[in-house]
Amino acid sequence: MGLDKGFLKIVSTGRYTPDKVLSNKDLEKIVDTTDEWITSRTGIKERRIANGETTADLATLAAQKAIEKVGYDKNNIDLIIVATFTPNLKSPSVASQVQTNLDLDKQGIIAFDLNAACTGFIYALNVAERMLHSGTHRGALIIGAEVISKVTDYQDRNTCVLFGDGAGAAIVEKDKTKEAIFNISSKEDQDLILHVDDYVHMDGQKVYQFASRVIESSIKELLAYGNIPKSKIKKIIPHQANIRIIKSASRALDIPLESFFINIHKYGNTSAASIPIALDEMLDEETMETEDKIILVGFGAGLTYGACSLTF
Ligand code: UT7
Repeated sequence: MGLDKGFLKIVSTGRYTPDKVLSNKDLEKIVDTTDEWITSRTGIKERRIANGETTADLATLAAQKAIEKVGYDKNNIDLIIVATFTPNLKSPSVASQVQTNLDLDKQGIIAFDLNAACTGFIYALNVAERMLHSGTHRGALIIGAEVISKVTDYQDRNTCVLFGDGAGAAIVEKDKTKEAIFNISSKEDQDLILHVDDYVHMDGQKVYQFASRVIESSIKELLAYGNIPKSKIKKIIPHQANIRIIKSASRALDIPLESFFINIHKYGNTSAASIPIALDEMLDEETMETEDKIILVGFGAGLTYGACSLTF
């Protein structure tokens, strides 16, 4: 879709992360690694691991929190999109399982999954914005949910220290006073530098270079297209993959690190769940004023990438 302007109101958000913690110290006992290496190279201290919960369970729990937070009338939900690359079943979709778990049975609801890897939540928001804009739907439940531990090779120190499980949700509606700008894209990846078969495989350095490049370009293009001065940005919520990538984006964009929301130390990389979990945590911590702008930015397998600005 490239650059695209529309309207979207964030009505509520929620998150759920499993109770089970896998710390760097725990990983030292499993693979040839150290807390020092993981912390200094990635910023991660610990991650959450599903303990029997499925991707649909995590997604449902995050959605329930979003609904309960504002007492949202769930009968307004007529669109459910779950961004995930780790569905618990090949079919039905995680979104359909969430619909069943939430007991949503209104005629005309549509529910489907979307796989755009770590950029999935932003892709899903863009799709929802277009559907809400067209008038076919009124209330959208957008979720990023992953159980990456089930496709993680705990013998491979290059990848197993990076990922965690969790889910984040947002309820969004159309609102002509809340501008939303999207800049999403996908780039060919002949060498499959980041892919998943039975397990996650990654050429870390190539992905690192790609990520650093596209965070900068996606946000710069977005700000120019939307005529948004940096001073108007309340917070940037980047995909939580590596603290060094976030720091390099801060330098390249000349935007202070304090403007970036960071929770990678607690959860590691939760792929499509990382941005909505961070969004919900950020909203717990910050008081948002009307017209405040936030920017979400992500990158991942595909190679997918992109950013969006949302207005409060
Ligand atoms: O969400 C999808 C997007 N994913 C990303 O954005 C990930 C992007 N890439 C990265 O974040 C970084 O490339 C990594 C964190 C994956 C790796 O960091 P790096 O600084 O690029 O390390 P490296 O791959 O160049 O490896 C440096 C050394 C190697 O040893 P030698 O060959 O120099 O002896 C690795 O074998 O570090 C070694 N190494 C480890 N050592 C201890 C790799 N993993 C580990 C480990 N513990 N867990």
